Amino acid sequence: MKKTTAKKVPAKRSGQRRQTGVLLERTDKVVTKDKGTVLKIFGPSYKVSAILNEAMNEARAAETGLPVAKVLEVLKIRDHWCIRREWVEGDTLADVMAKDKKNLVRYLKQFVAIQCQVFAKTSERMGNLADKLDKQISASPLPKETRYDLHMKLQSFPRGKALCHGDFNPTNVIITPKGDWRVIDWSHVRLGDPLADVARTYLLFWLSGHVAAAEKYMALACEALKVKLPDVQKWSSRDQTPKNHELLIHWASVVDIE
Ligand SMILES: Nc1ncnc2c1ncn2[C@@H]1O[C@H](COP(=O)(O)OP(=O)(O)O)[C@@H](O)[C@H]1O
Ligand SMILES: [Mg+2]
Repeated sequence: MKKTTAKKVPAKRSGQRRQTGVLLERTDKVVTKDKGTVLKIFGPSYKVSAILNEAMNEARAAETGLPVAKVLEVLKIRDHWCIRREWVEGDTLADVMAKDKKNLVRYLKQFVAIQCQVFAKTSERMGNLADKLDKQISASPLPKETRYDLHMKLQSFPRGKALCHGDFNPTNVIITPKGDWRVIDWSHVRLGDPLADVARTYLLFWLSGHVAAAEKYMALACEALKVKLPDVQKWSSRDQTPKNHELLIHWASVVDIE
C-alpha cells in the first residue's frame, strides 16, 4: 500500500473545523463528520482486507477497556468502503498544543501518561509488532545483507506484550471538554515492546518537523518508563548505526503488511 500525504483542512476559527464536514483529506482517504458520527472513506488503493483489518483492530483496542471511539459499522457507499465510528467531542492534543504553545511540556506529559496507560494493556488476539517488522524488512528493497542484519537485530530485541498503538501522535488523541481523553486511529496497533512504540512516536514528531517536541517527548517518555535513552535509541537513533536508521525510516514509510 502506498504512503499517503496528509492534507489537513485548516481551521477557520479555533475549534470550528471539528464541528462539521471534512476533518482530514489524504490522497486516497477522507475523514468526515457525518450525522453525529465519523466516517472514514477509503479510495480504491486500499485493499478491502486492510480496511476490514483496521476495523478489527479498532474493535480489539476497544475490548481492552481503553477509552476509544468505538466502531459503529463497516459499510460501502457507492464504490467506497467506509468505517463509521463514534464522534468524540473535543480537540485533538495536536490542536491544543498548537493553540497553547507555551504549555507544550504540560501537554507532552499528558500525552506520555496516556501512552503509558495504553502500554499497560495487552490483548489475547492481537498480532506482534516484531512479526510485522520482520515482514516489512523481508519485503523491503534493502540489500540482502542489510535485510539479514536487520532480521538478526530484531531477533535480539524483546518481543513484548504491551499494547503498542503504532501511530501514537497528538492528532490521534482527543481531549474532551470534561478533560477526559480518547485515543483514535488504531489501524497499526500490535503487541510489542513499549520502547519500540516510543521510538516510533519520536520519529513521528521528528518527521512532522517538530524536532524540539520530539526531543522533549523522548526525555519525558524515558523518565516515565524508567529507562535510559540508549534503550530506546536501539530502535530509533539517528546518531547510531545506519542500519538502525534504515530500519526505522523503513518502518515509518511502509504502510501495513497484513
Ligand atoms: N471519532 C472521532 N471524533 C472526533 N474527531 C475524529 C474522530 N476520528 C477522527 N477524527 C478527526 O479526524 C482526524 C483524522 O482521523 P484518523 O482516523 O486519525 O485518520 P488517519 O488515519 O488519516 O490519521 C483526526 O486527527 C481527528 O482530528
Ligand atoms: Mg490519525
